[in-house]
Amino acid sequence: MRPINSIIREVRSEARLIRTFCLDRDLSPTPGQYLMLWIRGVDEIPMSFSGPDTITVQSVGQATEALFEMKAGSSVGLRGPLGNGFALRGERILLIGGGVGSAPLAFLGERALAAGLSVTSLLGFRSKDDIIFQDRFQALGDIIITTDDGSYGIAGRASAGLKELSLFDYDQIYICGPEMMMWDVISRTREHAAKTQACINRYFKCAAGICGSCCLDREGIRVCLEGPVITADRLLESEFGRYRRGPSGEKGTCRG
Ligand SMILES: Cc1cc2nc3c(=O)[nH]c(=O)nc-3n(C[C@H](O)[C@H](O)[C@H](O)COP(=O)(O)OP(=O)(O)OC[C@H]3O[C@@H](n4cnc5c(N)ncnc54)[C@H](O)[C@@H]3O)c2cc1C
Ligand code: FES
Repeated sequence: MRPINSIIREVRSEARLIRTFCLDRDLSPTPGQYLMLWIRGVDEIPMSFSGPDTITVQSVGQATEALFEMKAGSSVGLRGPLGNGFALRGERILLIGGGVGSAPLAFLGERALAAGLSVTSLLGFRSKDDIIFQDRFQALGDIIITTDDGSYGIAGRASAGLKELSLFDYDQIYICGPEMMMWDVISRTREHAAKTQACINRYFKCAAGICGSCCLDREGIRVCLEGPVITADRLLESEFGRYRRGPSGEKGTCRG
């Protein structure tokens, strides 16, 4: 699949290092799917959809910094939508988001509400200044917020908010965020793993199931093609939360 050209229509600041880029293309994605964003002359990187025609990006390195230099009217290349996306199931659902990983869940929650589902959200951020999409999540239903530094909501990581909830009340759980935050929740809630859909990140190169860069030990799941949404019971005995491979394919530590 060759990239198509897209013009950035609008750039919105969401938090100190997080911006939403509105594109002039609605690629009709399913929440949880992603696109490969080509910032010409710099890199091509994976990004989840935070809406039908938006991506919400945290500036962390060369490509995202180059994107943050772009204004309305700039052009980028897009390949997508790619991957499987979340499957909506049941009547009552719980969204568990961490940092910028909350963005695809806001999109999912809006689709779920429109389909008549009851939505509860548990969101973890580093601090009050890092909170994104509070209004969007509040419009969906009950919301619990945690901050690592205690500057807003419950003090602690997202898992600190679990004590406010009974996970047996939910037909399906959806989670997206930094790997160690997701692993913290998934490993504490093993009995719910079969009904937990996790949107995970690995190092993507081809995003077409060919290069093997994103493969997850031990099953060898190609996250770019068979994911990025994987049911948590398939993650429990995998490399997830233990190690991950970088650009060279060498094992490294998981972040966040
Ligand atoms: C399916 C998927 C969805 C994602 N959705 C979002 C999102 O909605 N918002 C968001 O801010 N970020 C998202 N990311 C992460 C985003 O792709 C990286 O932050 C981005 O690639 C960093 O590039 P950089 O050049 O700015 O930073 P670099 O300095 O190159 O890298 C910083 C870190 O970003 C990660 N990274 C870099 N290149 C890639 C790559 N090709 N594939 C995967 N990870 C990479 C690495 O772990 C690296 O340590 C997603 C990643 C994946 C795999
Ligand atoms: S990124 Fe190449 S196989 Fe997944």
